[in-house]
Amino acid sequence: MKKAIQTRVFPDNDQMSREAALEIFKDVTVRLEQNESFVLGMATGNSPIKLYKELLGLFSTYKGSLTKFFTVNLDEYYGLGKENPDSYYQYMMKHFWGPLAEIHSTFHIETQTIIPNGIAADPVEESARYEKAIADLGGIDLQILGIGTNGHIGFNEPGSPGSSRTRLVELAEETIQVNRAHFGGDANKVPKQAYTMGVQTIFEAREIVLLVSGASKAAIMKELNSLNNPTEDIPASFLLNHPNVIIFADQLAISAYTS
Ligand code: GLP
Repeated sequence: MKKAIQTRVFPDNDQMSREAALEIFKDVTVRLEQNESFVLGMATGNSPIKLYKELLGLFSTYKGSLTKFFTVNLDEYYGLGKENPDSYYQYMMKHFWGPLAEIHSTFHIETQTIIPNGIAADPVEESARYEKAIADLGGIDLQILGIGTNGHIGFNEPGSPGSSRTRLVELAEETIQVNRAHFGGDANKVPKQAYTMGVQTIFEAREIVLLVSGASKAAIMKELNSLNNPTEDIPASFLLNHPNVIIFADQLAISAYTS
């Protein structure tokens, strides 16, 4: 039988984000209520922006403590420090950490978030530090992912081995072209390298939520849907073997194989 990833389809990004937020919020708070920790793996890009907004709305009604809530990020541009407005650190400050810390005095950005340091002196040491930081938290409970138009997850570009762990990688030309929109349209301003959790690091998350939204993702989703087995050519395909992954998609993203 052909392998397929469980997929929930919504009419649009708003509804997709609302449903995904409800599920994630429930998972997080059930554990916090039991006085256990929760490690939420976060993604950047356009796909999770509304999800984070919805999550913040839900957290604003939450009366419990967030002392045991931790976030871990997928990736960061090489050469961009956390003060750099184009860094993923600043994206997280704007879309999630900053507002959450304002609502909840028990959420401390310094100690409860981890993200690669884009300006660390030694990339090998920084990658090892990052893996250790995730392991010290007990691993990732739920990882939120987006997918690149070339099938990347995090910045694991085509050709990334399934066994890969956090490391410095070269960005694919397609990724640079897509991401230049975040750099005033200038591809020369997009860093050529980035730190990313590896495919294996992501795979070790106990649960994965892949968000796929918009017509630009239809072609890669069709390709992913046609595969029986993982291939390095489409790193997202390694998720086919993960025991607990769910795709939240909007209609446009899967239009190429449903119409
Ligand atoms: C970016 C990020 C990924 C993200 C993906 C999709 O380059 N490194 O982590 O999931 O590309 O981005 P978007 O959601 O904007 O389509």
